[in-house]
Amino acid sequence: MVKLHLATRVNIEEAAAAIKQGKLVAFGTETVYGLGGDATNSDAVAKIYAAKGRPSFNPLISHVESTNRAFEYGQPTLIAQQLADSFWPGPMTLILDRMPQDAETHYVCDLATAGLDSIALRVPAKDAARQFLIAADVPIAAPSANRSGRISPSRAEHVLDELEDADDLASILDMGPAENGLESTVIDARGDVPIILRPGAITPNMIKAVTGVSPSAAGDKIISPGQLESHYAPDTAVALDVTAPAHNDVMIGFGKMTCDFNLSLEGDLVEAAANLYHMLRQADAANAARIAIAPIPQEGLGIAINDRLRRAAADRPDVIEGAEKP
Ligand code: TXA
Ligand code: MG
Repeated sequence: MVKLHLATRVNIEEAAAAIKQGKLVAFGTETVYGLGGDATNSDAVAKIYAAKGRPSFNPLISHVESTNRAFEYGQPTLIAQQLADSFWPGPMTLILDRMPQDAETHYVCDLATAGLDSIALRVPAKDAARQFLIAADVPIAAPSANRSGRISPSRAEHVLDELEDADDLASILDMGPAENGLESTVIDARGDVPIILRPGAITPNMIKAVTGVSPSAAGDKIISPGQLESHYAPDTAVALDVTAPAHNDVMIGFGKMTCDFNLSLEGDLVEAAANLYHMLRQADAANAARIAIAPIPQEGLGIAINDRLRRAAADRPDVIEGAEKP
């Protein structure tokens, strides 16, 4: 059974060695915990899909320690360069055209990109995560370290809850709570106009400020294969925009109000994002009839929070999990 290991220098080195041997390691980032494997090793990547129970057409993010490294694997465009200069290291993933294969660089395997011509790249900001990436010296493919369709882990203990019995998971590096608490903003940066495939801490206004172009939203079309409607789902039913909870509800509030868990008493969206997944897990464990969630303003980080909440409230994941995507 897998254990938590504090992210000390020795444990980081050991975990990096496990990665090079094709094993899996869960590690912290500023967004959520990732379930990592060597992105150049298709056996390791296959183990990630197996551990998550993830549909195999869902491509993974390759994590690297620097922007220079990222642009060895993905072809930079003008907007990619501008975004990277401003927001890497940080909670942003760029979709770029894959670099053609050459013998000099380790090649990210086709399984990690699900056979697409594009690649998702991210340079995380958390110090210990970067030390881990430098020690491993390979790009690390890592989806969020939860079983497919369930709430993403923002703490090492959440990973233990999700993946305690996963085969091939060598260790969980405990890097403390994720400061940010929501998955990275995913931006398709291949063209002249940035397209937001998944909202996150890097907001449309921030993207516009840096590129001079208003990003477009992916809209209803699933461009990002991971954007299945039901996702981030607790076992308990979820109701949104609740102002008056029912008797059997467990209430997650926002701002000054009576509730069981409060995302942010001060009504601070940054604090709310950091608390979201932990409180969803706590509310889920309360065995209530329903999780009721107060309205969250649709501005700034609230856009990403509401995106995740809509998915948490969408129909049960088991229906979608087993099904083939159309
Ligand atoms: O914050 C994060 O992004 C976390 C941490 C661990 O880095 N990772 C994460 O990974 O959330 P995951 O696998 O749960 O979500 C990756 C998202 C999915 O929606 C996937 O479809 C999308 O990125 N994606 C990956 N490669 C893509 C590609 N080539 N084109 C479009 N979307 C892609
Ligand atoms: Mg995920």
